[in-house]
Amino acid sequence: MIKTVKTVKQLRAAVAAWRKRGLSVGFVPTMGFLHAGHQSLIKKAAAQNDRTVVSIFVNPMQFGPKEDLAKYPRDLAADKKACAAAGAHLIFCPEAGEMYPPAFAARVEISGVSEGLCGASRPGHFTGVATVVAKLFNIVQADRAYFGQKDAQQLAVIRRMAADLNINTRIISCPIVRGSDGLALSSRNAYLNARERQAALCISRALAAGRKMLEGGARSALKVEAAVRATINKEPLAKIDYVKIVDPQTMRPVRQINGAVLCAAAVFIGKTRLIDNFIFGA
Ligand code: PAJ
Repeated sequence: MIKTVKTVKQLRAAVAAWRKRGLSVGFVPTMGFLHAGHQSLIKKAAAQNDRTVVSIFVNPMQFGPKEDLAKYPRDLAADKKACAAAGAHLIFCPEAGEMYPPAFAARVEISGVSEGLCGASRPGHFTGVATVVAKLFNIVQADRAYFGQKDAQQLAVIRRMAADLNINTRIISCPIVRGSDGLALSSRNAYLNARERQAALCISRALAAGRKMLEGGARSALKVEAAVRATINKEPLAKIDYVKIVDPQTMRPVRQINGAVLCAAAVFIGKTRLIDNFIFGA
């Protein structure tokens, strides 16, 4: 059975023992309820490092007051199996009090790149993400850390943070893993009933149509965004939060498409908010 530790002290001792032997360390931060998307990150980390740490921590600081913190899905027993199967060596699953003791007062705020898209819809979300990831980076001190392109803005925020704060862990991005029907895998897909799950396919379908337009030579971001929106709006259970074409590093809106762009969407399917995206021209 894979080793699981709950305290910073235990985690540090395990990593120090590896370091003493000259072993390299990969790190995959997660909130658990692991699926094949998470496992693709763990597999990549295990292929590129001697030892791989996975953190499982549903981070209260990145949830808004009306969000799904209390009902966020959890299954540590299944997660342990998923980590072991993907080649991880150690799981760090701290209690909230271990990460946020009563006197805790720090905030890591990454301006600019955090502000549009999900940052606009979820105030404080990326400060919560950056704060917990900065703590985890300091705790694990990995050579490399792995993030999914599925959360494209999160990846851009973490890259900005790592560069600005001289974090000595290399950030590695990993492609979006999808179900055979095209839906991007997400722990939140567990909230969808059968009808909603079918409806959710409109997101990847609309983005694929947007990509086709770009491949066909369309260069007006507004026109492509409008076409993606129109496809999603045909689905009665879908309510668009945003569909935006932006610079993949800065997340600033793009009008005329010349270089690489990120086309990102956030859509409510019933009460469940799902995100998906693609990069074009990289
Ligand atoms: P979580 O949503 O559990 O995701 C953990 C990592 O898995 C993230 O880097 C995310 O982009 C990646 N991931 C999720 N679904 C994926 C998919 N279908 N394909 C590829 N990668 C996928 O993101 C978080 O947790 C948290 O914000 C965290 C970074 C752990 C900070 O609390």
